[in-house]
Amino acid sequence: MNEAPARCGVIGFPLSHTRSPELHSAFAEQCGVAQSYTVLAVPDSDFEHVVRSFFANGGRGLNVTLPYKQRALEFAEAASERAVRAGAANVLTRQPDGTVLADNVDGIGFLRDLARLQFDPRGAKVCVLGAGGAAAGVIAALLEAGAATVAVLNRNAERVQLLMARMDDPRVVEFSGQGDVFDLVVNATSASLANECPAFPDDVIGPGTLAYDLVYAKEPIPFMQRAARLGARTSDGWGMLAEQAAETFYLWHGVHPDTDFLYP
Ligand code: ATR
Repeated sequence: MNEAPARCGVIGFPLSHTRSPELHSAFAEQCGVAQSYTVLAVPDSDFEHVVRSFFANGGRGLNVTLPYKQRALEFAEAASERAVRAGAANVLTRQPDGTVLADNVDGIGFLRDLARLQFDPRGAKVCVLGAGGAAAGVIAALLEAGAATVAVLNRNAERVQLLMARMDDPRVVEFSGQGDVFDLVVNATSASLANECPAFPDDVIGPGTLAYDLVYAKEPIPFMQRAARLGARTSDGWGMLAEQAAETFYLWHGVHPDTDFLYP
């Protein structure tokens, strides 16, 4: 007798452009795993209710995206260390005892994509644009991977101080504007979602810089366009999305899908 498919899905709002179902169905087919994957585009007031009933009805796991990553962490009965450190969860998984575990695989997705791009974060000088939840997740991953310094630049300087206090690591500093050229510049602001480019001085980028935007979009991303004009190698967040989806698949089914086919 065939096993009933494991019920999984993604929750967020809006979700009209999500690529997660496509990634998960490709992984399920490749690995021979029976999985159904639902898109739950739910408005603000319904988040906890929808998640509770999803798991009460036997759901295996949910990917969580904007704007619910912090609420997902608060919702779950237990959380991994990496989710607590990032202050946000992007995966909720039903445990054998019925409780829900919050986890965060955005950081591992980001690091795997850097490896794919042959960028070694060990000893790297990094500039992160933005000081919100996405920046915190990326900075935590870079520190763990051995970055030498992470200079944070944000429109609102107060948020940089708050983020530095939260990271509590001497390698995280406020961007000084001293004309430093960085090995890696990460756009962790949400500006790309509004088709805007965050402000940064030209000289942070040199010919050896990798400029990485966490956002994935079909349209050209203004940050990447500007960074390319300044001579950087550029990448959008497709690989991070794909690699975190692969890691989520592993958490839910115990099998690591091969992701090479996603990078033609
Ligand atoms: P997330 O959880 O996705 O990081 P967030 O916590 O709302 O979302 O943070 C969004 C980040 O993008 C902030 O650093 C924000 O800057 P402010 O703290 O100054 O608001 C940044 N941001 C958003 N739009 C921007 C824009 N057009 N230019 C520069 N920074 C922008």
